Amino acid sequence: MSIAGSSVSVPVPFAHALGVLRAAAEETRLRILALLAEGELSVSDLTDILGQSQPRISRHLKLLVEAGLVERHREGAWAFFRLVDGRAGLVDPLIGGLDAGSPPLSEDRARREAVRAQRAEAAQAFFARLAPKWDHLRSLHVPEATVEAAVLDVLGSRPIHNLIDLGTGTGRMLGLLADRATRATGLDSSHAMLSVARANLERAGLSRVDLRQGDIHAPPFGRGSFDLVLVHQVLHYLDDPARALREAARLVAPGGRLLVVDFAPHGLEFLRETQAHRRLGFAPEQVTGWLNDAGLSTVTTRDLAPPPAEAAHQLTVTLWLGVDAAEAMPERAVA
Ligand SMILES: C[S@@+](CC[C@H](N)C(=O)[O-])C[C@H]1O[C@@H](n2cnc3c(N)ncnc32)[C@H](O)[C@@H]1O
Repeated sequence: MSIAGSSVSVPVPFAHALGVLRAAAEETRLRILALLAEGELSVSDLTDILGQSQPRISRHLKLLVEAGLVERHREGAWAFFRLVDGRAGLVDPLIGGLDAGSPPLSEDRARREAVRAQRAEAAQAFFARLAPKWDHLRSLHVPEATVEAAVLDVLGSRPIHNLIDLGTGTGRMLGLLADRATRATGLDSSHAMLSVARANLERAGLSRVDLRQGDIHAPPFGRGSFDLVLVHQVLHYLDDPARALREAARLVAPGGRLLVVDFAPHGLEFLRETQAHRRLGFAPEQVTGWLNDAGLSTVTTRDLAPPPAEAAHQLTVTLWLGVDAAEAMPERAVA
């Protein structure tokens, strides 16, 4: 038996066990735990899925947090909730053993998918509108040339065999790196973005790059298919960035690398409304934690802050480079 979130077997004090079981032994709270077992959610997600008022959902979440089963992560005006360390501790076997096909869990699951689909549709519409002018809309952060120079510097001169750019958009990162790679692939869910990428890459003489439509949460490629995986300015649009990074890490070949580039935490709340941002940036340790959980070690984290005069309206960009553990082996052994 273990305390919430801990994988170490330690005896559980009686009062703690009673508190945890009481917290979980209520219909809505058990449904919330089952939903969170599949990934973090905001209060408004839970309100939509469970069809209950926000104060009620907040009250249930508060009890689950107090029992140490759920943790809250505040981000601007929103709060996201997840199981502590991805597990429900003492009640983990119960949650894991629930029949997801039985009501009301089956309805919750269907509703969750419907809520996700609605959001994805809204995002698709946004990216379809944005595609033709995306390359002109990068003024939010430090100049693109600074970011690109940092990407090249962090990656160094190591050869690239098989590159994938997840959420490639207009193909900017492919334009930067594809001619250094033996093979290059771009994946994006937006048909409109891919059309712009295709035109850009053709213009740059990179027409051999393979562009595919697909979801970053379920990329249609086998484990270990790529020695360099990029996720550049995509995470903050996603419903489930942790899952996307798990999937990205799954694609990394032994000894391969995963480079994530995104915003550092910021307070520009309006970006949720005007730019379809779902997350207001990421703390260094949050992404590092996701990479480590996915079996990669983080070798580099670098912040690109705007100059002080621009700091009020420009955002800091962070780069995280994760490496598959085989990287630590001598070159001979990797080959
Ligand atoms: C801000 S753009 C960044 C594009 C590119 N990486 C860059 O830095 O120029 C975000 C891209 O992520 C794509 N995207 C959003 N959600 C996605 C998903 N679930 N699966 C795949 N691509 C997604 C969008 O279509 C869009 O092209």
